[in-house]
Amino acid sequence: MLAAVSGTGEHVPRNRAAWERWAAEYAAPGLRNWAAAEPSWGIWGISEAHTGVLPADLEGRDSIELGCGTGYVSAWLARRGARAVGLDNSAAQLATARQLQDHFGLRFPLIHASAEQAPFASASFDLAISEYGASIWCDPYTWIPEAARLLRLGGQLIFLVNSVLLMLTVPDADDQPAAERLLRPYFGMHRFEWPDDESVEFHLGHGDMIRLLRGCGLEVEDLLELRPEPDATTRYPFVTLEWARKWPCEEVWKARKSS
Ligand SMILES: C[S@@+](CC[C@H](N)C(=O)[O-])C[C@H]1O[C@@H](n2cnc3c(N)ncnc32)[C@H](O)[C@@H]1O
Repeated sequence: MLAAVSGTGEHVPRNRAAWERWAAEYAAPGLRNWAAAEPSWGIWGISEAHTGVLPADLEGRDSIELGCGTGYVSAWLARRGARAVGLDNSAAQLATARQLQDHFGLRFPLIHASAEQAPFASASFDLAISEYGASIWCDPYTWIPEAARLLRLGGQLIFLVNSVLLMLTVPDADDQPAAERLLRPYFGMHRFEWPDDESVEFHLGHGDMIRLLRGCGLEVEDLLELRPEPDATTRYPFVTLEWARKWPCEEVWKARKSS
């Protein structure tokens, strides 16, 4: 099993700098997602009705979104009755989230911090959620114990990530889509850096992820493997629809704090 990493590593300021640069590109998709009547997930925008990512009852639940970006997931949660909090490492992303809050007249706290060291007391939340936020930009050996700390007993952790299969088949060149053959080893997968890109991502194999979650007192409830509709589109070049119809390119983990 991979060695644990404690504290916040040098990837946190590197990823903060990267997201300050990229934030402007996320304003228009953020607006579209805020405006959407129903939640939809991941790079293909698969509907909540098809995925069942969210808990059925969010009324009065305390939720925290770890790596909220423009804040649309928290907006969906708030509209369903949750007391939502969004946390993000990038001031620029949070500035967009604040503008969208004003635009839609829906306000909830936005916290500028790293999800690896969240400024909240233990057992403050019923739901911790992340869609391509802390779930890929933070070290899982740091953010998952931190998310477990934030949750009350019986609370749920839900997070969406690139699938393991995608991470093994996507070429280093960022304009090339995932291949139909394995390009890198599965064993030891953890930290990913791409040529010409200063950001750092983290992705674990399934066995390591299950052991990590269980080691944090989180019982795995589900692993949703997302499949886009035949006519789905995406703005991202790293996977084709043909590929994603054959293999899952995204997965959603659901785990509940049991101890
Ligand atoms: C792709 S956005 C996620 C938001 C939205 N769900 C989306 O898919 O556009 C990734 C976000 O993770 C944030 N992030 C990166 N590292 C983080 C950290 N250590 N703590 C909290 N947020 C972080 C970035 O600032 C960015 O806003």
